[in-house]
Amino acid sequence: MVSAIKESAGKKALIELYQSVRRRTMEIVAPLEIEDYVIQTAEFMSPPRWHIGHTSWFFETVLQAHQPGYQVYSDDFLFYFNSYYEGFGARIERPKRGTKSRPTVKATVAYRNHIDEQMLRFLEVTEDPKIHSLVRLGLEHEMQHQELLVYDIKHLLCDQFDVVTKAKPSAFGRIDGMSQIEGGLMVLGAQASSPARVQQNPMLVKGAGEDACGPRTEFAFDNEKPEHEIFIQDFAIDKAPVTNGDYFEFIRDGGYKNFHWWFSEGWESINREHWQAPLYWEFHDGEWMIRDFSGLQPVSERKDEPVCHVSFFEASAFAKWAGKRLPTEAEWEKAACYDARGSKRSFPWGDDAPKLTHANLFENGLWTVAPVGAYPDGVNDYGCHQMIGDVWEWTTSDYVPYPGFKSEFDEYNDKWFVNQKVLRGGSFATPQLHIRSTYRNFFHTHERWMTSGFRCAK
Ligand SMILES: [Fe+2]
Repeated sequence: MVSAIKESAGKKALIELYQSVRRRTMEIVAPLEIEDYVIQTAEFMSPPRWHIGHTSWFFETVLQAHQPGYQVYSDDFLFYFNSYYEGFGARIERPKRGTKSRPTVKATVAYRNHIDEQMLRFLEVTEDPKIHSLVRLGLEHEMQHQELLVYDIKHLLCDQFDVVTKAKPSAFGRIDGMSQIEGGLMVLGAQASSPARVQQNPMLVKGAGEDACGPRTEFAFDNEKPEHEIFIQDFAIDKAPVTNGDYFEFIRDGGYKNFHWWFSEGWESINREHWQAPLYWEFHDGEWMIRDFSGLQPVSERKDEPVCHVSFFEASAFAKWAGKRLPTEAEWEKAACYDARGSKRSFPWGDDAPKLTHANLFENGLWTVAPVGAYPDGVNDYGCHQMIGDVWEWTTSDYVPYPGFKSEFDEYNDKWFVNQKVLRGGSFATPQLHIRSTYRNFFHTHERWMTSGFRCAK
């Protein structure tokens, strides 16, 4: 009886989560004009219309596999909205997503509404914990695409996008220097949670069931698991992300003109692409300016904010110039999760779920980075600021499976375990519910249209 009540409460929470996540996607695109939805401004971005259809396509694959008698909405939609899944059939090539005006935005929204209707009906009757886990994965997938929508809308429109942004908080003080952190054995990664646990309470508060190893999470991707022990050396890590002001000194010192600081591939990249600064930096009348959703501002007015839109190559070159290096993902996680007594926690500030005062995440509504030192409530025991939120931080670690990795969903994470680097911590575009300290984001070394920054280690 008790377990039946728990299951029905868990299902209700999952349904509510489904509705709120699906609503948020449409809220993000709401300020767009109809013409904006179908344009692709670069091969690496996708038109907004594609994102709202693709996230629905993901749920249609759940319906196809698990709802008896489900009729496919449209074979054309399956072709256009599949991203990269070989297992789900033929698909349009990514660079061509913006070459088609059909399906129209109206037809895509109708598809989305149809899938929602079907999914909500399906969720009312299904009790299978495996399906509930799959739906939760679909919602995490949708939150990833919400963040991608922010990157892509920025590339598409930048300050022409008519979004309401909240005022930036001020810094509570100047933050510089590095924290010394003791090495030794540490637990890396997230603890596995069983499908049954997800079913009972998908909104379970982080850290509610701690044990000797570390905090439990309500959800973690397969690539964060299993948690395992590793040994790390003593190290030092920057108390704050590298700022625009710091990075400007590197540019002023001829950083982009001196091969000495660059990996061979990085040197080739910056010369081929003619990069002289991060993406969205523009040189006007002898001055470097940064353009974002709020317009164009001189770097000098944003010097205390984390540098954003740098590639792994640029982050690594800066670190070498500064006499430092990038941290490994284990060092980053040690700094982000461990308290001074050596206990592992969910977040730098402890086990509470992220709040507006802890970190600059999507819910803060800034649509940009906040000055270093603006979130004193989010500081860890070592005095490190803004490890969560603002910018995803490049690490020097290759994106490879953890020892004992088991794929939980074919082609989701497992086929990307080659030639990419891990980034940690989330950004101003990451939803609060979506971020974890164990989260492993990954991008190629040359990519920089996402909100990527870094801090250095030694
Ligand atoms: Fe996707």
